[in-house]
Amino acid sequence: MYEVYIRSFCDGDGDGVGDIAGLRSRLAYLADLGVDAIWITPWYESPMRDGGYDISDHRAIAPEFGTMGDAEALLAEAHRLGLRVLVDLVPNHTSDRHPWFQEALAAGPGSSDRDRYLFRRGTGDAPPNDWESQFGGPAWTCVDSAEGWWYLHLFAPEQPDLNWADASVGDEFEAILRYWFDLGVDGFRVDVAHGLVKEQDLPGLRPHGDGIDHPHWDRPEVHDIYRRWRSVADGYVEPRVFVAEAWVSTPDRLARYLRPDELHTAFNFDFLTAPWLAPRLRAVIDATLAAHAAVGAAPTWVLACHDAARTVSRLAREQADAPVRSLADLLERPADFEVGQLRARAAVLLLLALPGGAYLYQGEELGLPEVEDLPPDVRRDPTWERSGHRDPGRDGCRVPLPWSGTQPPFGFSPEGASKLPWLPQPPAWADRTVEALAGDPDSMLSLYHRALRLRRDHPALGDGTLRWLPSPPECLFFARDPGFGCLVNISSYPVSLPEGTGVLLASQSLGPDRQLARDTAAWLDVA
Ligand code: GLC
Repeated sequence: MYEVYIRSFCDGDGDGVGDIAGLRSRLAYLADLGVDAIWITPWYESPMRDGGYDISDHRAIAPEFGTMGDAEALLAEAHRLGLRVLVDLVPNHTSDRHPWFQEALAAGPGSSDRDRYLFRRGTGDAPPNDWESQFGGPAWTCVDSAEGWWYLHLFAPEQPDLNWADASVGDEFEAILRYWFDLGVDGFRVDVAHGLVKEQDLPGLRPHGDGIDHPHWDRPEVHDIYRRWRSVADGYVEPRVFVAEAWVSTPDRLARYLRPDELHTAFNFDFLTAPWLAPRLRAVIDATLAAHAAVGAAPTWVLACHDAARTVSRLAREQADAPVRSLADLLERPADFEVGQLRARAAVLLLLALPGGAYLYQGEELGLPEVEDLPPDVRRDPTWERSGHRDPGRDGCRVPLPWSGTQPPFGFSPEGASKLPWLPQPPAWADRTVEALAGDPDSMLSLYHRALRLRRDHPALGDGTLRWLPSPPECLFFARDPGFGCLVNISSYPVSLPEGTGVLLASQSLGPDRQLARDTAAWLDVA
């Protein structure tokens, strides 16, 4: 599966913002790359205070992205090319411009129109409790200081949290699912799937070292919602699927979302945040496989997404034992981007060799680094402002893709475009355009092509199981039946390939005597 961050994928109309027309024009590129499906980040009507994750109309397309007609044409063309299409569903909150929230504000305290959100009274100047916004600052905004009424927003103030205890919320989301399923979307990525249900009476935060019994994350009641959605999906003849974005504390807690009558898959963020260290990666792989096997679900591996620093930049740093997710985690550490590229090449071969599904994020196939030096005045992620400019936020992994040519907009926008791309592209990306990499057999793009072809053709790859094989220290070596092996050298030394194996693909060329250099992965024929 390939994540399309629509704002930054391709601009069809020249306004500097990616859109459906641009995406349609590049569907052939995605089919040729060898992916099976795309997930499109929110394309709905929105004031765009959080890149479209603040939706004001779930049944309309944002004008800057196109029209409903464009969306339908995209679905039809993608299906013709053999690509399935997943869209984003944002059920934890709406935009503050959503008619429900506007009605709630207008109706005033005590009105049942407020029951769809979480309005509470604070005390004096203090909010109702100590919950924090994920983007920094309190999770409450006051709407009426005389009476002390506040509303909850676990994200930006422009994203009020819905109250899932109110029956009309569940009914509306079921109708939204059916609306898009009926139009032909093949599935939904469920935003903040672990956040919808809050503990009754909204108690304050308390120590919760294991992440269990947290007052607003991963509440047990949330699973009832997914049982209802599963039965909606199962009512369609053609398969309809869900993938959960659920940042929970352990693989076992994640697997609870994947019980047979709940969601089909969930992003495995433990793999994304794991350091490039063999024991840590192996522990994540083992824990993931065991937890998923217990509920009969396929794991879903992910290296990158629009919320995390790009793989090349994460892996360019010395690898400490702590998980790394955002640019803020990296800034202090010196970087070696050549090492980052080598590790990113090896990491994607590891990812694609593991049992289950895999999510790729746009631009990873070009080896794009995080843009770490975006000027402050162009940053759009609410994290930047709300953290008091301490956390640069997620814009650095959202810079528009370079397609062709030698200078910005690198084919992102059509010739004669009226505006520059919404975030500036580094001039050095001239070497990283699709056009530049497509012609180079050793490029990251060529590696992705070959790996995805092999993954499609090799009977051992995709869903299934793995068997660990004895390996040199700081290496990962496993077999998949029939006849496939993956060896990843995470040590600081070259290692020799096992006797009697043939090389199907390697993330860089082998040294003399079939040596696999450090930070290199090889797919092997072990028949
Ligand atoms: C998810 C999205 C992220 C967004 C947040 C709030 O984590 O991936 O981009 O900011 O939800 O909707």
